[in-house]
Amino acid sequence: MALAQRAKSDYFDFLRFPTVSADPSKGQVMRDCASWLKKKFREMGLEAEIVPTSGAPVVLAFWRKRGKGQRKTVLIYGHYDVQPAEMGDGWTADPFEPRVINGMVVARGSTDNKGQIFAHMMGVAEAIQRGGPETDVVFVVEGEEEVGSDNLEAVLRKRKKDLACDVAVISDTNMAGPNKPTLTYGLRGITALQVELTGPSHDLHSGVYGGAVVNPITVLTRLLAGLHDEKGKVAIPGFYKKVRNAARWERMAAKALGVPDAEVRRQAGSPALGGESGFSAIERIGMRPTAEINGITGGYQGPGPKTVLPSKAWAKLTFRLVPHQNPKEIADLVEKDLRKRCPKTVKIKITRQHGGFPYFCDPKKGYGPAAVRALGEAWGGKKVHFLLEGGTIPIVSVIRNVLGVETLLVGLSQPDCRAHGPDETFPLRYLEQGAKMNQALLRQIAKA
Ligand code: BES
Ligand code: ZN
Repeated sequence: MALAQRAKSDYFDFLRFPTVSADPSKGQVMRDCASWLKKKFREMGLEAEIVPTSGAPVVLAFWRKRGKGQRKTVLIYGHYDVQPAEMGDGWTADPFEPRVINGMVVARGSTDNKGQIFAHMMGVAEAIQRGGPETDVVFVVEGEEEVGSDNLEAVLRKRKKDLACDVAVISDTNMAGPNKPTLTYGLRGITALQVELTGPSHDLHSGVYGGAVVNPITVLTRLLAGLHDEKGKVAIPGFYKKVRNAARWERMAAKALGVPDAEVRRQAGSPALGGESGFSAIERIGMRPTAEINGITGGYQGPGPKTVLPSKAWAKLTFRLVPHQNPKEIADLVEKDLRKRCPKTVKIKITRQHGGFPYFCDPKKGYGPAAVRALGEAWGGKKVHFLLEGGTIPIVSVIRNVLGVETLLVGLSQPDCRAHGPDETFPLRYLEQGAKMNQALLRQIAKA
């Protein structure tokens, strides 16, 4: 109990760091949080160090029983950075001052990813107190996941020897629902870009020039409207060429998740669902690629009217990818299509942003069955679900390429935890639950 009590207060301290990686002014906060993590790992009994990068530092921590060959090593990855959170986004209180409401911890990062990585830290700390976990453990906790993990690959390459492991474990995904233990066996990838259109060299009086000069917002909205056809398919030539078709068992597993379209609609708080025809909502999210407009700006957005013909218009776009799409190739196709369809009446500038590969690993192979046994054990024998996630964790495919191991994605987040949204939550009891899962996993991996 003492340990659990301390764990809760440590978790709350962790949540109080406003580690928003997208905000360039947060450099010191990132370093402070990394130092705090290093201290916690050392208190737990691990060797820990901070690896500086040109962005936020990476924290590495090791628990090794030296001299006992044959032992397996498990790499546990998480991230201490969080998405931006402002009161204006709909938070009902300070996002960086955790509160508990009906057993749910409300704070930015409570679920994504501080709660989930902290549960693993608790699991290992408890195991160490009773003589140590059954495997050696390496923690990698980074501070740039939410902005594409650009600096982590170099760290993995440089420290490849120290990070050598048999399998990786990540809790940064959703469960199919409460009390539905879930093994995620795939993630979507992503490619992001920004489009800037310039019409006239400066904003114009729309009465003096309107009708004679092309409005870049009008051009942009036409271009963006052309990203999809009437059936909800992405209309970019070649976009689907490398898309993997899900196997029959996968469509059955998706059905067995027991998440009907109406439930997805309810969670989203949306009047209706949309998307590619011929697929259920859960299939669209896990198995199919998308084109998404994340933001659009231009012209006058202040109070009251303003009769302006704007000089510029911008849009931020992301494309979620599935195996075997390649982020760079897709960005090339998108750019080609936009340039081709863009009329000569405006100038177009396209800036590439982050990218990440999709991931797929057959859950019946490798350590998949060990993970299924561990999840069953930790959740009192409940049936284990198999899920394809719609989100992206860029480092998972890098771990495969650089360290040569697969990743077990055993998320603890719930679909309605509002990750990335206002009033993000995490069930407090999932800290203990996650610690238990961590211990079952390490035990089963050791035996496998
Ligand atoms: N935890 C998420 C990934 C995720 C989202 C898994 C939804 C399962 C369901 C992670 O922190 C995240 O948000 N990743 C970003 C990555 C991007 C910025 C490269 C994402 O998916 O948008
Ligand atoms: Zn996230």
